[in-house]
Amino acid sequence: MDSIRIRGGKPLYGKIEISGAKNAALPLMVASLLTEETVTLSNLPHVADISTLINLLCQHGVKAHLNGHSEAEGSSNGRAISLTAAQITNTEAPYNIVRKMRAGALVLGPLLARVGKAKVSLPGGCAIGTRPMNLHVDGLEAMGANIHIEGGYMVAEAPNGLKGAEIRFETVSVGATEDLLMAAALADGITVLENAAREPEITDLIHLLQAMGAQIEGEGTDRLVITGKEKLHGATYSVMPDRIETGTYAIAAAIAGGRIELTNTRAALIASVIEVLQEAGVEIEPTENGLIVTRDPATPIQGVDVQTQPYPGYPTDMQAQIMALMCVSNGASMITETIFENRFMHVPELSRLGANINVHGRSAMVRGVPELVGAEVMATDLRASVSLVLAGLAASGETVINRVYHLDRGYERLEEKLAACGAEIDRIQGE
Ligand code: EPZ
Repeated sequence: MDSIRIRGGKPLYGKIEISGAKNAALPLMVASLLTEETVTLSNLPHVADISTLINLLCQHGVKAHLNGHSEAEGSSNGRAISLTAAQITNTEAPYNIVRKMRAGALVLGPLLARVGKAKVSLPGGCAIGTRPMNLHVDGLEAMGANIHIEGGYMVAEAPNGLKGAEIRFETVSVGATEDLLMAAALADGITVLENAAREPEITDLIHLLQAMGAQIEGEGTDRLVITGKEKLHGATYSVMPDRIETGTYAIAAAIAGGRIELTNTRAALIASVIEVLQEAGVEIEPTENGLIVTRDPATPIQGVDVQTQPYPGYPTDMQAQIMALMCVSNGASMITETIFENRFMHVPELSRLGANINVHGRSAMVRGVPELVGAEVMATDLRASVSLVLAGLAASGETVINRVYHLDRGYERLEEKLAACGAEIDRIQGE
């Protein structure tokens, strides 16, 4: 298993190009199941989760071509992909893929809508919480599906097709909103989704579905009205910039000090993160195709309280990174996680670098320390891992982050992008 080694304490200066958003690309790729025609996506990030989803889609019968090359092994090596689901040859999404990547369970709604049946593994728990599927199941049942759990699988049938329904989510869920949007686009009649998620990735999915011929109103709001169509057609679409990658590198500039220009992105996507960074004393200047983040290494970071919320609130996927920054603040910060029940796995690892953090239930009290000191650490999920990279950039001496495969799931060429700005970072190849 590879590791990443960082010698911290160097300010960062340079430019980083932001990749396409993993969490937008995954549902956009799944949407290809809704039509027999070709869906072509550009600005696709080169990260491991994309390869995992290609494998899953291929075993449902989708033909995938990456940058014009046929996708044989499932390893992603390009930035444009064509997906053609001329025929669905298999409606089972197996445990060995879905357990690795929960987004795989999103095929449930589209398969039911397209062919009237699906057998999709329950994803199981993961490092950040239990992450149930009840909102997906209840919504599809309201649309006329019969679903039961058997042998760890959701076994679903809609022999007479899916019908439009009025569905109110009790909790805001990105995945359930995406799943039901896709199902409703091919259902018979009108579906109304209330208390829907408003994340920009949802809007990206709505735009692709509209380009495929779907009728959807209410984008950007928590009430979506979908008028189902008998058929959808192919489309060509560019994946939105990765707002979490954007925010992560903004914090890299903040924690290490220096000045980084982030390109191929939009400042508006991370407005809530920018607000916190500005309060902490970081300068942010929006540009035409991104933003410039500056912190004079001599200016201390101020402590700021942060609470995660569904969009447009502060993202849970940026909670570990802001905690890393608050570890070196000139004050204290209360960080409250409201989305997932167990998303503080980075706390003991940050503590190994000398951070002063106390967790009380869903809140973590972070008291800034004058200096972090490098150590060997590891993490159990993607964003926790990257928070350790950020802390390593600020720490004196050498930090080694193990289990890098978590980072490879969601960050494209992370060490290359940071090294180009002057970070001393390299990858140690494992056996
Ligand atoms: C998406 O996960 C993202 N993943 C996550 O990013 C992100 O943390 C999360 O949204 C919240 O923003 C992708 O887009 C692939 P949810 P998702 O359904 O859709 C509860 C990353 O690091 N819930 O919005 O699975 C759930 O337990 C990842 O890139 C139910 O109770 O998240 C959680 O508490 C990690 N029942 C809350 O809703 C359900 O049926 C929000 O989860 C579904 C969800």
